[in-house]
Amino acid sequence: MVVLKTPLSTYDKGMIIEFVPQRITGVFNFVNGLIFLALDDFLETHKGAGAWSEAIDSVGLEQQSFEPEYFYPDQVAADLFVAVAKKLEMPLSEMLEKFGRHLVPGLVKMGHHMGLVKKSWRTIDILEHLQEPILSSFSNIDEGILAPEIRVYRLKHSEVAIAYVSKRKLCHLLKGIVMGMGEYFSEPIMFKERVCMHKGNGPLCRLTVYLDDPNMVHYVDINREFKIVHSRIEELNFYNQFSGIPINHPGLVLQFGTNEVVIQAPREQLVAMKEEGKTYISVNHLPIGLKAMVKEVEVKGGYATLHDFHMTNGAVGQRCYKRVEPKKRFAITINIAGTDYKGEVHNISGGGVKISLHESVHLNETFLFMSVSLAFSLPLKWVQKGDTMELGPQKLSLEGNILDITEDEKERTARIMFTTLTGHNLFLMDQYYQRYLEDAQPLIHEKMRKI
Ligand code: HEM
Repeated sequence: MVVLKTPLSTYDKGMIIEFVPQRITGVFNFVNGLIFLALDDFLETHKGAGAWSEAIDSVGLEQQSFEPEYFYPDQVAADLFVAVAKKLEMPLSEMLEKFGRHLVPGLVKMGHHMGLVKKSWRTIDILEHLQEPILSSFSNIDEGILAPEIRVYRLKHSEVAIAYVSKRKLCHLLKGIVMGMGEYFSEPIMFKERVCMHKGNGPLCRLTVYLDDPNMVHYVDINREFKIVHSRIEELNFYNQFSGIPINHPGLVLQFGTNEVVIQAPREQLVAMKEEGKTYISVNHLPIGLKAMVKEVEVKGGYATLHDFHMTNGAVGQRCYKRVEPKKRFAITINIAGTDYKGEVHNISGGGVKISLHESVHLNETFLFMSVSLAFSLPLKWVQKGDTMELGPQKLSLEGNILDITEDEKERTARIMFTTLTGHNLFLMDQYYQRYLEDAQPLIHEKMRKI
């Protein structure tokens, strides 16, 4: 763990003055000294001994050495990046990418040494844990040193989405590190840049990083996905056919390992599984369905062992949550880092919620992938609880992540994916859906009759 030593030294037009630590909130003003040590190494690897001193002299800095336990003003880093790019005779963007690649072996080693990066992690895993615990370990809130915010959202085993909102605008460094990680672990890492702060001067970069490997695209990390299902005591939905008739029932996970999952399902479903030798599954927290082969079925015991899981692209696999679009939108409060924002529920499912934001709410795309807390009352007239009924709306408090914020001429909406959903919350959502169906079904039938 890096320990911040005080006082910090600060830099003012080439002079080193003592800096009395102060609380800095929301602004990145200081860079960890490690960056300078690595930049020194990078430049001298390419240009030989003495190049670093020359770069330092060229920006008029008196300070010649940097220490990993200290933090230095952003401007020092910005000036030195430009000076190093000049020395290497390449554009700043290219230098930062190359520097990123150069950093990787050292970062991985340091991450292992500090216990921040598990030995089994590869590029996508490291990215998933970049903010917490990796970068957050280099912050010191008491001293006002905040880690850069690189928000990462794991979409599936082989893919993450990244929002980089830093005022330092070092996205080329980020891309260099990402590609360098791929090389380091011999993985076919690729990225797609959706939005870049350097094109159009926007406030953020948004990219997806993925493993460009057809096998990996459909790979299911059984242990990871079924741990989530199991811990939430969540139901799965199975889809089979029997003599051409669709059979679709919910079931539960009884046991899971790295290769196999034992599930419990109604007799009819198990018989259909046995007959087909495979089954399609929808899992609440996954946006895509799964296909599994049936290893063994114990119809009498009420369970089956499934293996050989893959993500599907087929119609059954492209599962949808049971989504409710309330006739009358209801109020919801989003809390982000202690601030409340008001909105109304546009639609809601067991996976997430779409919210239309009040005009006065200043949420924009820079809030992407941020963790949020949500509070609302689900407008249920009654809820079935065992043999009893509970009357009235049900209060829910959930956690989630902002997936996107979009605006059209009519309104601004935020889509939020739920992260933690207890069995009870799922049950309430299901009850809400059932009531919705009861109301909506006659209308749907009427509509279908007319087609
Ligand atoms: C794929 C993995 C990684 C990526 C893409 C990445 C990317 C970045 C980027 C873009 C920055 C500059 C952010 C800014 O200032 O705006 C940064 C800073 C930093 N990173 Fe990483 N990084 C990765 C892994 C690691 C690891 C494994 C470690 C160490 C265990 C690490 C330690 C640091 C430190 C110490 C800083 C400077 C923080 C500061 O001074 O505020 N990074 N990283």
